[in-house]
Amino acid sequence: MPTVSELDALTDAQLIALYAPANRSERLVRANFISSIDGSATLGGLSGELGGPGDKRVFDLLRQLCDVVVVGAGTVRAEGYGAMRLEPRAALWRAQNGLPEHPAFAIVSRGLELDLDSDVFTKAPRRPLVLTTASADTTRRTALEHVADVVACGEKSVEPQRLVAELLGRGLTQIHCEGGPSLLGDLIAADELDELCLTLSPVLEGGAGPRISHAPQPSVPRSLTLEHLLLADSMMFTKYSRTR
Ligand SMILES: NC(=O)c1ccc[n+]([C@@H]2O[C@H](COP(=O)([O-])OP(=O)(O)OC[C@H]3O[C@@H](n4cnc5c(N)ncnc54)[C@H](OP(=O)(O)O)[C@@H]3O)[C@@H](O)[C@H]2O)c1
Repeated sequence: MPTVSELDALTDAQLIALYAPANRSERLVRANFISSIDGSATLGGLSGELGGPGDKRVFDLLRQLCDVVVVGAGTVRAEGYGAMRLEPRAALWRAQNGLPEHPAFAIVSRGLELDLDSDVFTKAPRRPLVLTTASADTTRRTALEHVADVVACGEKSVEPQRLVAELLGRGLTQIHCEGGPSLLGDLIAADELDELCLTLSPVLEGGAGPRISHAPQPSVPRSLTLEHLLLADSMMFTKYSRTR
């Protein structure tokens, strides 16, 4: 039976125990998304309006526990990402647990239209990684190489298997995807996703908002197992693992 708990009743240590990887030497490709009850990944074009304090607590904790945060360039641009820098308390916890103070940050982009003057690069505590394609624009690539490690993981698209292999090759076994729907769709299609943390926000979007996953073709249906369910008022936090 999956554990069912009240989120607010859990201490930080108890919450960490629920989300901590069982074995850091084994790969874990995890994604964290939020959806409205009627399946929209956005409210007014962004995911932030769907969230709340409980969601922020889980979102921050998942960053604290991972080796690398992976995000599609569409989400970096839409959500206005800054540097991948954790709060001092989270950074201290990581240091005490033998981890670098901040996780690595990997951005997935084909077009490389990334703002080199943004905090993502200028205030990065660790040199970011940009995962791109061999056919990416060479001028943009050269400019990016001044501020990031740029690696091709496919010819015309970043191939999920190569993305995962590249990160594992750097010792980054705990891979955490924060979005967005196109990247998640690719991870699902390639069957590279091991775990999905999905928050259900108690709101009806009622329009044509995107789903959390988007791909040109439906994938072979993949089964997942509910590991736990946390409640905070009417918001639900689920953790599903891939059944293989
Ligand atoms: N509800 C949630 O939890 C949640 C989470 C994250 C984002 N969102 C929302 O999702 C929306 C953005 O959606 P999106 O689908 O555009 O997000 P996305 O997956 O982050 O971005 C798509 C872009 O990422 C790059 N990309 C993704 N997969 C790639 C691959 N396999 N190979 C090469 N490049 C790849 C490409 O960047 P280039 O264009 O640079 O080539 C592509 O245009 C925003 O409204 C955001 O607020 C919601």
